[in-house]
Amino acid sequence: MTATRLLLPTRAQQQPEWASLDELKDVLHSLEAKSPLVDATACAHLTAELGRAAQGEAFVLQAGECAERFSDSAPETVLAKADELHGLADEFTDASGLPTVRMGRIAGQYAKPRSKPTETLPDGTVLPVYRGDAVNAPEPTQAARAALPSRLLMAYRNADATLSTLFERDMGLAGRAAPQRTYAGHEALLLEYEQALVRPDGDGGHYGSSGHFLWIGDRTRQPDHEHVQFAASISNPVGVKVGPEAPLGEVRTLVRMLRDPNRPGRLSLIVRMGRDHITPGLTAVLRALGDEAAGVAWICDPMHGNTRVNGAGQKCRAVSDVMAEIEGFVSTLHAHGLHPAGLMLETAHGPVTECVDTPGELASSTPLPRYESACDPRLSPRQAREVVTRTAALL
Ligand code: PEP
Ligand code: CO
Repeated sequence: MTATRLLLPTRAQQQPEWASLDELKDVLHSLEAKSPLVDATACAHLTAELGRAAQGEAFVLQAGECAERFSDSAPETVLAKADELHGLADEFTDASGLPTVRMGRIAGQYAKPRSKPTETLPDGTVLPVYRGDAVNAPEPTQAARAALPSRLLMAYRNADATLSTLFERDMGLAGRAAPQRTYAGHEALLLEYEQALVRPDGDGGHYGSSGHFLWIGDRTRQPDHEHVQFAASISNPVGVKVGPEAPLGEVRTLVRMLRDPNRPGRLSLIVRMGRDHITPGLTAVLRALGDEAAGVAWICDPMHGNTRVNGAGQKCRAVSDVMAEIEGFVSTLHAHGLHPAGLMLETAHGPVTECVDTPGELASSTPLPRYESACDPRLSPRQAREVVTRTAALL
């Protein structure tokens, strides 16, 4: 097994300043002794499904939290999220005629990259920013914001509980026609955690056993930094976010490092350019890659390039911006003879009001009333259904 790094990574962005390195070391030793959370065979199945999606024979719908809370692992919450995901996927299949691969942003989405390391409260107090439940807590106090290594063990336990509930759900439905399993994906941000859960894959290599699909965020995808090297070292299907600022040369290097020509679907490029950049931005990426992109699964994240601040100071997104990015994504791929392979959405299973329908509503200074996200604004079930069915109609 690859040795776990016991020093803070020097060439990795967005790593917490852990409160105790001795405790971190103990926690990592405990994690190294734990059972894998997902098995390597399921990861390989997902790679094959992503490969089919890259050929236009299936479509991957990934939906769920921006930032999962540990409290979300209560069985009734997990089941409500699974129902929401599978309901969206069924609608997608009905509207498109394509099999839908179902993946949550779930069972490990406990760590967040942040634009600033600190936040200033209205009274002037400066606190470390909330980085997800695997690191600290969102309450605005110094104590809550301390980065506690013990939270990595809690992340493992909550992911385990979530995956068990999903597994039992999927098994319970296995007698029914065409059961579809629930895959779990999250951003592989906390390198110590991810590396401590690397296990032999039974095929001569190693895989990240923390989730089926692991992605690298737009802030941590530097080809010579450790997140990308981690992704290159594991056999899971991996994704890399590609934002509007991604240098084309870096994207080519990433594809060379992470794509496997013999395993279509091994690499997903998750494009998140924003509604105004998607068409020129994706066109430039496709031109730069040319034939080197064969077998890459092109996934659209229409959320993260379209985040605005509304008149009440809340982070917000407009569904019409989300749709405009999806339309640009689909038409650009089609113009290059390629297939859209999937969609990654931030969704809630309850009727939140975190996204608005049209950009005009962003001007309102009245705070959106049901704003419950621990991080970015999520689509409500109604909004998610609209996005999914309108996307299906574009394919
Ligand atoms: C995310 O997917 O939650 C995220 C932070 O995205 P990005 O890395 O694209 O900003
Ligand atoms: Co987000």
